[in-house]
Amino acid sequence: MRTQVAIVGAGPAGLMLAHLLRLGGIDSVVLERRSRDYVERRVRAGVLEHPTVELLREAGVADRLDREGMPHHGISLRFDGADHRIALSDLTGRSITVYGQQEVVKDLIAARVAAGEPLLFEVSDVMLDPATPLVTFTDAGGTRQELECDFIAGCDGSHGVCAPHVKATVHAHDYPFAWLGVLAQAPPSHSELIYTHHERGFALHSMRTPEITRLYLQVAPDERIDDWSDDRIWDELGRRLAADGFTLATGPILEKGITTMRSVVTEPMRQDHLFLAGDAAHIVPPTGAKGMNLAIADVWVLAEALGAYLREGRSDLLDAYDETCLRRVWRAEHFSWWMTSMLHQAPGADDFQRKLQLAQLRYVASSEAAATSLAENYVGLPLRR
Ligand code: APR
Ligand code: PHB
Repeated sequence: MRTQVAIVGAGPAGLMLAHLLRLGGIDSVVLERRSRDYVERRVRAGVLEHPTVELLREAGVADRLDREGMPHHGISLRFDGADHRIALSDLTGRSITVYGQQEVVKDLIAARVAAGEPLLFEVSDVMLDPATPLVTFTDAGGTRQELECDFIAGCDGSHGVCAPHVKATVHAHDYPFAWLGVLAQAPPSHSELIYTHHERGFALHSMRTPEITRLYLQVAPDERIDDWSDDRIWDELGRRLAADGFTLATGPILEKGITTMRSVVTEPMRQDHLFLAGDAAHIVPPTGAKGMNLAIADVWVLAEALGAYLREGRSDLLDAYDETCLRRVWRAEHFSWWMTSMLHQAPGADDFQRKLQLAQLRYVASSEAAATSLAENYVGLPLRR
């Protein structure tokens, strides 16, 4: 088999890259180790930045997003038992859209299948040679295949096989807590997202649809999900999210899991003909809701750069790929770290640290300049600058 770009991984990064390349007349083959059903059901993040939504629209894959996505014009910071609204749209003229990552994935898979372009699920033992470049793998039927290509895109997430091929410096930071996330059959208890600072730990109220809530609790990184019965989860959410006039709607818990929190940046993001994008190159803690948006921003840059090279023989954009992406990535790393530090209770944190967090929260809630900075980062910095 031969293609122009071999893409490893069918998450938002790999699928969006394949789609953008196709719009630019460039062939690719996407290799995914899981089944279609698995990737379409995997519950992940759910906040799309303004530039992400615009790009999905421009790329013609936003019909369902425009029908079913939930536009949000503000978020709440809840502390001292009261809400302090950050008016995203009034402050920036832009908004965010709540739409599950797996819904984006479903829409991109549907577009790929409708176009009749190669997307191979349940492949195994993907191996690559970034210099030749060449990718080999075993297809779903058990046959070993060779895929010759001009470039390889490593879009295979944080535990993939591509990143280890890059001779890189890995900047990493582990946070001393994790998030327990639940998807519940309960209507949102408030029309907007609520980021809560509480002495028992951070809590987040989010949603997926008018019938489904997404909720998170800060827990210890070694916490076992089996120790969290549904009753215990609702009790703890009730305590942390308590505020005057607020009633937490409860219902059957459809899914629950624990995610550890890390910041990772791989520099550089390329080796020979291999380019990394999305979680394969960097991870942010979920507090700023940046993970999927960074993945989409990377592949927009990569698609433009590969297009310039493969169509016109221009290598300047490819040469600048790292620098272009890493500027945005480090901004998002800082923002995510800052939101995380302001809102979570670190083990062993003293009264001084809690006073600092509250001073920062009160400042963001009362200063238009500080709120605008949060809002500008939250709705997403423009892709074209
Ligand atoms: N071979 C083929 N596919 C692989 C391999 C492999 N060896 N290893 C991993 N994959 C697949 C995974 O099964 C997954 O479908 O690569 C895909 C990577 O997708 P994501 O993990 O969703 O990563 P990305 O597309 O970069 O999107 C980043 O995902 O984890 C969230 O918070 C993160 O929202 C962010 C988004
Ligand atoms: C989510 O809805 O899953 C979500 C929302 C906001 C975040 C993280 C996750 O910061």
